[in-house]
Amino acid sequence: MKTTLAIPVQKTTHSKLAETDFSNLVFGKTISDHMFVADYKNGEWTDLRIEPYGALDLHPANAALHYGQSIFEGMKAYKNEKGEILIFRADANAQRMNESAVRMCMPEIPEEIFMEGLLQLVDLDRNWVPSGKGASLYIRPYMFATDNYIGVKPSDTYKFIIFTCPVGAYYSKPVSVKVETEFTRATEGGTGGAKTAGNYAASLFPALQAQRAGYDQLLWTDGKSHSKIEESGTMNVMFDINGTLVTAPTNTGTILKGITRDSVIRLAKDWGKPLEERFLTVSELQEALENGTLREAFGTGTAATIAHISKINVNGKDYALPEKKSDSFSYKVLHELDGIKYGDIVDTRSWISKI
Ligand code: COI
Repeated sequence: MKTTLAIPVQKTTHSKLAETDFSNLVFGKTISDHMFVADYKNGEWTDLRIEPYGALDLHPANAALHYGQSIFEGMKAYKNEKGEILIFRADANAQRMNESAVRMCMPEIPEEIFMEGLLQLVDLDRNWVPSGKGASLYIRPYMFATDNYIGVKPSDTYKFIIFTCPVGAYYSKPVSVKVETEFTRATEGGTGGAKTAGNYAASLFPALQAQRAGYDQLLWTDGKSHSKIEESGTMNVMFDINGTLVTAPTNTGTILKGITRDSVIRLAKDWGKPLEERFLTVSELQEALENGTLREAFGTGTAATIAHISKINVNGKDYALPEKKSDSFSYKVLHELDGIKYGDIVDTRSWISKI
């Protein structure tokens, strides 16, 4: 692999590869051997290195633990039949991470550091990329404050880390969701558009209530009127209503700018699929469920991929959705995206970095 940054590597003396059961991967539980680390101090990113994956030395006064300056990304690498590794839209993740950084008063990470750290790490741990359809290497870049200081202000120092995990499906079956009209994930002017830890922390309590009631996830509504569908806890959501794809816009700052969402929109546009980036109201959704015009609903996300929604609870009433069909838009889009990711379909949009 051609590299532009010389990153020192300290290899592990005990690889966990041989003891890992690749046929039985639980999402996020198995971590590969190495991690990429960079530190931010005195206004610059320094000490770039790859080292064995291991515990961090944290001070109890670490600012991220108290005030939540912490952002992350998620992306995936795939292995093709030639044993080459294909990473999907990493540049888009690098860009989104910097958008989150700006919102959270954190330093941006130069794209060269993000990409070189990522590519050199995945190249080193390339034997951790599982083969086979549905399997991939989930990549988790993240950044957090490292000042040890008990006072509310942006930290002066940060750590940026990338580690990876071989994974199977995040959702192994279709997903059931409940429209949430009491709790709020994000409001305009808040941090909903940033991929920051606190957004996920705030979602846990309401999501747990829904899970206890038998649903996998929530469908969040806007914080002001609770009348418009925004996104789900782990994915953006899309609805096919009478052949038109409807998905919430991301310009309100309340919705994560999903890269899978963007990829689906690009494909829909290229294929001439009618598309509306607008808020679907809860009452419109309920009407479409009642009168049968909702052909399908699905989530889009890096971890979730294209997740078929099988049941939606609206205003306390459960609606079963039609089974996933092989002529549905979501089926076609999943097939196309998988084809590009695993190298079976030519990547005409420059979405793949190959190592
Ligand atoms: C991803 O899809 O990469 C995410 O960050 C969602 C996470 C909850 C697994």
